[in-house]
Amino acid sequence: MHSISYYQEKIANHFTQIVSNKEPKNLYEPIEYILSLGGKRMRPVLTLMASEVFNVDCEKAIPAATAVEVFHNFSLIHDDIMDDAPLRRGNQTVHEKWDLNTGILSGDAMLILAYQFFENYEPKIFQALAKLFSKTALEVCEGQQYDVDFETRDDVTIPEYLKMIEYKTAVLVGAAMKMGAIVAETSDENADLIYDFGLNLGIAFQLQDDYLDAFGNPETFGKQVGGDIIENKKTYLYLKAIEFSKPEEKQQLLHLFSIQPTDNKDKIESVKGIFNASGASEATKKAIQDFTFKAFETLEKMDIEAEKKAILKAFGENLMGRNV
Ligand code: IPE
Ligand code: IPE
Ligand code: MG
Ligand code: MG
Ligand code: MG
Repeated sequence: MHSISYYQEKIANHFTQIVSNKEPKNLYEPIEYILSLGGKRMRPVLTLMASEVFNVDCEKAIPAATAVEVFHNFSLIHDDIMDDAPLRRGNQTVHEKWDLNTGILSGDAMLILAYQFFENYEPKIFQALAKLFSKTALEVCEGQQYDVDFETRDDVTIPEYLKMIEYKTAVLVGAAMKMGAIVAETSDENADLIYDFGLNLGIAFQLQDDYLDAFGNPETFGKQVGGDIIENKKTYLYLKAIEFSKPEEKQQLLHLFSIQPTDNKDKIESVKGIFNASGASEATKKAIQDFTFKAFETLEKMDIEAEKKAILKAFGENLMGRNV
């Protein structure tokens, strides 16, 4: 197994040639565009790492890693439509740069492209990958629907929220790792353990995404800061603020999350003030740590070399320290 930067280098620049110069341009250019904007490439790196955890050269995992990242980028195009988001990775979102129909169809094409990468594998591995992928992709849709449904509900609970983020985000992180295990043809026990590691890391990851959405630095975050507040998203920050606030602040927060003003500046500032004063921000940071440590506990159960555990753990620790 290699260092994290080794896998990052393997993946860097890999995505730009996937659909270059294909026709019709209005279908493929948006795909090239979103893939060229990069991002952290966390999921494909995890797929490569997982294959080498189980002693198979990560070259064999490249098609699976590509499928996961193309799927992820597809989900971002459609997510940005659903969230009415103007910015992605510091640039215009696809539906803003082109239009809604382009975002829908280029996204659809990416989902299909993602599946095609599995054709690089022999039937046994192909089937296992496709089966996991289909299950995961459907769960992502379920999570995304809950996320939207919750925007207009005022009685969302923490367990409901955790289920929602598990589905919309964490299952793909788990699946990215399990795909590496499948490619490596390791035991089912190992594949399930690495899935659980990724799942808990993925929950921590989405909690932090929610935190950064409110408190990230607009200069470097790459997305619209306060987007979740504008959209009345029922995040962990919001749910904890409702739980911890005094009656007056609670009423204010409920009111702020029932309106959609034309100018959101005041709403965002008021809500962030309540998130901080109520202790919700601290509670969110604590939950991020808790789920990361839960992931590390799963790691301890795995029968792999200490050096490999250390690399996976370093990856989780780096994620906790991220600000994009
Ligand atoms: C954004 O994912 C969507 C979530 C599931 C939170 P990333 O934060 O991994 O986005 P990129 O790929 O690095 O831009
Ligand atoms: C996105 O969650 C999850 C998926 C794309 C499936 P968010 O809506 O929080 O992701 P960002 O913040 O837009 O990246
Ligand atoms: Mg979004
Ligand atoms: Mg969303
Ligand atoms: Mg977000």
